[in-house]
Amino acid sequence: MSILTGARILLGVTGSIAAYKAADLASRLTQQGAMVDVILTQGAEKFITPLTFQSVSGRKAYTDADLWGGQAHVLHVGLGHSAELLVIAPCTANTLFRLAHGQADNLLGVTALAMNGATLVAPAMDAGMYEHPATQENVRILHERGVLFAGPAEGRMASGLSGRGRMLEPLEIIGHIRLALARKGRLSGKRVVVTAGGTQEPIDPVRYITNRSSGKQGYALAQAALDAGAQVRLVTHPTGLPAPVGAEVVEVRTTAEMLAAVLEACQEADALIMAAAVADFRVAQVSEHKLKKRDGLPRVELVAADDILANVAQMREKLARLRVVAGFAAESRDLLQNAGDKLKSKRLDLIAANDISAVDAGFAVDTNRITLLFADGRQEPLPLMGKDDAAETIVSRVTALLE
Ligand code: CTP
Repeated sequence: MSILTGARILLGVTGSIAAYKAADLASRLTQQGAMVDVILTQGAEKFITPLTFQSVSGRKAYTDADLWGGQAHVLHVGLGHSAELLVIAPCTANTLFRLAHGQADNLLGVTALAMNGATLVAPAMDAGMYEHPATQENVRILHERGVLFAGPAEGRMASGLSGRGRMLEPLEIIGHIRLALARKGRLSGKRVVVTAGGTQEPIDPVRYITNRSSGKQGYALAQAALDAGAQVRLVTHPTGLPAPVGAEVVEVRTTAEMLAAVLEACQEADALIMAAAVADFRVAQVSEHKLKKRDGLPRVELVAADDILANVAQMREKLARLRVVAGFAAESRDLLQNAGDKLKSKRLDLIAANDISAVDAGFAVDTNRITLLFADGRQEPLPLMGKDDAAETIVSRVTALLE
């Protein structure tokens, strides 16, 4: 289950070369459980056929021929009322004008007026057209009216020119769709800090000590908190994973940097979820210059790094808004005993105990085997699940504690 499961999305496709990417968008949304109805404008039909969309969504794709068909008098109202969200991707300059001025001379234009839910547009046009004062005026009108925008991005366009006007990639548009669907979620108005990945402790300017954390579980938690409507700050080492759309990402490398970023974020946060695999040891004396072989084997002395959750626990009274702190325990033996000890010593409300001795759980795999332990003594073993599902469950328990 994700926020897209069962979501009713109306996808408007207009006449831009980026229309071919709309088929990928419709396909991905359908695979993730959304019900996608498609309306093509006449311009879109020059680039792509309704059959393409019907084939990927399993649902009828509508064109202007339907505007005057047997169901014409109810079609646009039916489509507009049943959809939670109208997504227009790609959205041409012409359609921006239509929306801004309420022009109802095609099926998409009429349906946009009949929409009950929100509208999200992903503009696609040549940079000069996008920057033109006429287009910018339409963009301003739509912004003021609460229409949501996904892009456009800077980049190379079909004309061969570069500039702002390129449609976002389907994956990024899906991030914006999730944000739009999440706006009234259980965590709306709440701020959540999530940490992800492993920290890096330098030895010299080119070498560091780290661990095998991929950051996947933390990124999934950030996405799940966004899906629940929270404002999310993601404190992470540079993992190379795509940042969840809508999250404020703070990149850090060392444990000390992560500590500073977390304490700063917690001044304003309602919940902290520490999924990062924080280094427990750092190098006592970081060499200013690269260590050279000719100088013989170096002796690297380790000292304790900061314990971030222990610091948060000490400051808890001063962090007025912070109501829930959740941690992870990655254990290869005595899972529940060790996790229970950490829950108490770090003054947590919830700890996710993860058995990393199992081949299907822990670092660098897509599944986790987790038992949740709560401060009131409750224990909740979760079945083997994907990191996305585990994230959703943990965020829902954090939400319950906040409520
Ligand atoms: N953690 C932390 N600061 C550290 C180490 C860990 O805040 N320096 C957090 C982790 O993000 C996690 C929890 O504490 O949420 C438990 O981390 P874990 O590595 O399992 O435990 P440690 O306290 O490091 O103890 P040990 O490694 O000895 O098991």
